[in-house]
Amino acid sequence: MPDVTDDVLRTAVIIGSTRDGRFGPVAADWIAAHIAQREDMTADLVDLVATPLPTVFPAFGQAPSDEVVAQLGAVSPRLARADAFVIVTPEYNHSFPASLKNAVDWHNEQWHAKPVGFVSYGGISGGLRAVEQLRVVLAELHAVTIRNTVSFHNYGEVFGADGRPSDPGCDVAAKAMLDQLTWWGQALREARRVRRYAV
Ligand SMILES: Cc1cc2nc3c(=O)[nH]c(=O)nc-3n(C[C@H](O)[C@H](O)[C@H](O)COP(=O)(O)O)c2cc1C
Repeated sequence: MPDVTDDVLRTAVIIGSTRDGRFGPVAADWIAAHIAQREDMTADLVDLVATPLPTVFPAFGQAPSDEVVAQLGAVSPRLARADAFVIVTPEYNHSFPASLKNAVDWHNEQWHAKPVGFVSYGGISGGLRAVEQLRVVLAELHAVTIRNTVSFHNYGEVFGADGRPSDPGCDVAAKAMLDQLTWWGQALREARRVRRYAV
């Protein structure tokens, strides 16, 4: 993530799916382009294909192997540095992908007292069932989920060949979600600086 001033919110955009031929990067690039246009945010694209995380956890009390440490080292510091998150998720069997749950579970304090916004996609439900389940999981990790979401129903019909949705309403929805994410991100960052978060 580039050096940023104090006013700018460091936002990790996490691509939740790792499937071959996945749509996730298209949606992630689109929301990252929205962030790039703003002066109050900067985006760091976290791609779980480019930086895969281990799927076997060490036993309680056991130090992770060097390989595990190296894999985590490509992701965890970026989540720790982030003041806010945008999770880009599809819906798999009425929930979110295992790759995303794995990334969530490898981390704990990286999520604490930070806001999370969502961009979801899927069939008729637009990935909203995945988002509702993520809200429950992220509450356990002391994260604050943002009320407004950006949701693409039958996304194949929404996105053009240029990688952007044809309906301008999608840009309006993105702005609303990012405005709320920024509000919470600034508020929570200020609060974390004043007092240690009560875990
Ligand atoms: C294992 C699996 C389960 C799926 N389950 C659902 C579902 O429950 N609801 C839905 O709307 N779409 C479902 N889909 C369709 C996906 O939302 C769609 O294929 C999407 O492109 C997957 O995201 P990805 O391309 O980033 O992997 C499923 C796809 C897969 C691979």
